[in-house]
Amino acid sequence: MVSLKTELRKEIPDYERYDYSSVWKGRGLEDYVEKEIVSRWAVGETGIELGGGFGRITQVLEKRIGQMFMLDYSLRNLRRASARLQKTTLIRGTLDKLPFEDNVFDFVALIRVIHHVPNPDPLLAEVVRVSRNGATFVLGVAHEFGKANSRESALKRVTPEGHKIYSTPLGRYAHPGLERVEIRGVGDFDNRIGRSLSRLWPLATIDLKFSRLWPAKPMLFVKYRVVKEGGRNEPRVRCDCGGSILERRCDSCGRTYGQIIDLVEK
Ligand SMILES: C[S@@+](CC[C@H](N)C(=O)[O-])C[C@H]1O[C@@H](n2cnc3c(N)ncnc32)[C@H](O)[C@@H]1O
Repeated sequence: MVSLKTELRKEIPDYERYDYSSVWKGRGLEDYVEKEIVSRWAVGETGIELGGGFGRITQVLEKRIGQMFMLDYSLRNLRRASARLQKTTLIRGTLDKLPFEDNVFDFVALIRVIHHVPNPDPLLAEVVRVSRNGATFVLGVAHEFGKANSRESALKRVTPEGHKIYSTPLGRYAHPGLERVEIRGVGDFDNRIGRSLSRLWPLATIDLKFSRLWPAKPMLFVKYRVVKEGGRNEPRVRCDCGGSILERRCDSCGRTYGQIIDLVEK
């Protein structure tokens, strides 16, 4: 397993002190459209959502992917996810060191997360490492208008919750092993007017129908194909000792894990 020397752990945003799911109250149209875009691209035997939060998107992915995993650092979000998901394996961990062998996933999603990461390159290297050749990687980011080709990443602001938000221009996510296939844009109605009309479901259809007009849309979903050498490994969660966690028990050190496989608390 690759061990990355980053300062990422210090930068992990705190999602324990507020209820992230409440952020989505009254945003039914936006939520529906995002799920629709991501699930249309979701195929494969094995998949993972990185920074999956309370399982908002994973909930639709687990219906389309054979064996689904979700990793997040926030215990509060993971507990909520545990209540809403049916068959996804939940892991508490950090994005800088994914607890899997190389070449295990056919599908990887990273939605509304990368703006928390000061340097995306080590994370994208991990995405490529755990993906199988030909896998689909879906990145969901806010559109930074007029900056599509910028390679710069800079601190933009700090939210009232204390989260640092880094700029996320699309050019920042070019990475060896990732071939950009398609971009869709959504979010026409993600504003005060749209939210007041959130019962008008046909608006979701309009947003989706014109999602190819991404240069004018505030939220982007980018589909990449992973192109690399290598075979296929099984998706076994790795214990810190290097063993594999099978049925919530490490086959090497014998440590047992709960419903959420917690690789943070020792
Ligand atoms: C804005 S939420 C998005 C959740 C979900 N993807 C969605 O769209 O509903 C960001 C999530 O990323 C997680 N996260 C951010 N940085 C992380 C890191 N370095 N390691 C693990 N999780 C992280 C947070 O805990 C949080 O649950």
